[in-house]
Amino acid sequence: MTIREMQDEIVRLKKEKDFCILGHAYQSQDILEVSDFVGDSYGLAKLAKTVPEKNIMMCGVRFMAETVKMLSPEKNVYLANPVAGCPMAEQVDGEFAKALREKYPDYTIVAYINTTSETKRYCDVCVTSSSALKIIKNIQNDKIVFIPDLNLGTWIKNQCPEKHFEIFHGCCPTHMRATEEEAKIMKEKYPDALLLVHPECRPEVVALADYVGSTTGIMKYAEESDAKEFIIGTEGSIVEHLEFSCPDKKFHILSKELYCHNMRSTTLADVYNTLLGNGGEEMVLSSEVMTEAIMPIDEMIRLGG
Ligand code: 13P
Ligand code: SF4
Repeated sequence: MTIREMQDEIVRLKKEKDFCILGHAYQSQDILEVSDFVGDSYGLAKLAKTVPEKNIMMCGVRFMAETVKMLSPEKNVYLANPVAGCPMAEQVDGEFAKALREKYPDYTIVAYINTTSETKRYCDVCVTSSSALKIIKNIQNDKIVFIPDLNLGTWIKNQCPEKHFEIFHGCCPTHMRATEEEAKIMKEKYPDALLLVHPECRPEVVALADYVGSTTGIMKYAEESDAKEFIIGTEGSIVEHLEFSCPDKKFHILSKELYCHNMRSTTLADVYNTLLGNGGEEMVLSSEVMTEAIMPIDEMIRLGG
């Protein structure tokens, strides 16, 4: 079967089996072409509540499928590739978040959406890269505990001098691999290019950027900008999508190490097999998780708008 034939079958099967396919912006082009919606973590989480189909397939990583399940408990939610996890989400667990709540009783516990559902049970509000600043500014409390991305937390902290932050202590192994030295070399090599980076990058890299934003924020900025050349400081798939959507512009990846094996592990064949019932994993969460971990997600949507 060719890629095109498989895509045609996927389009036919998803209608027949009443599936909506959500594709995170880091997925490959062939998957995005058969997705009903493409977006960043925040956009997909908000959309999940509104889709009419009975079955939802997440092409992304596990915490995204868990979030969709919590937002749409009455639906069958599938992760297209069960091994697609997010290493950052595994860096803290429920016990760690619970201990922070006990240690900082008068702080608001803010969790990046890149956390497990078990961790979310002990947090007050979730944020994504595109919603974090707005949400944290909207929190009434001026004492914030932020987990688990030190780089995103530091970026927000620098823009909220009115609040006190305690940040613990994880990172995205993919974005951490892009260094300040690489950013300087690339800016020197392509002096006309704008540097667009994800806030999961190191603060030294973020400090050199012309724009800092989520995956779809970066794509939108590049698409709408008058500039013709860009250095992209996020997962390499975004360069491929931008080359496709803006053939008249030039894109360079900030570092050849910007490659997330987890996001890349989902293939078009996984999508096809999930529709056939031969693959994927249905998200099943305990009733405690469903009732407790949804609270910070609902709060994210309330404060994020
Ligand atoms: P977005 O919030 O930009 O979708 O990012 C999710 C992610 O995992 C980035 O590495
Ligand atoms: Fe997780 Fe980083 Fe991969 Fe995003 S790029 S899914 S934060 S490991």
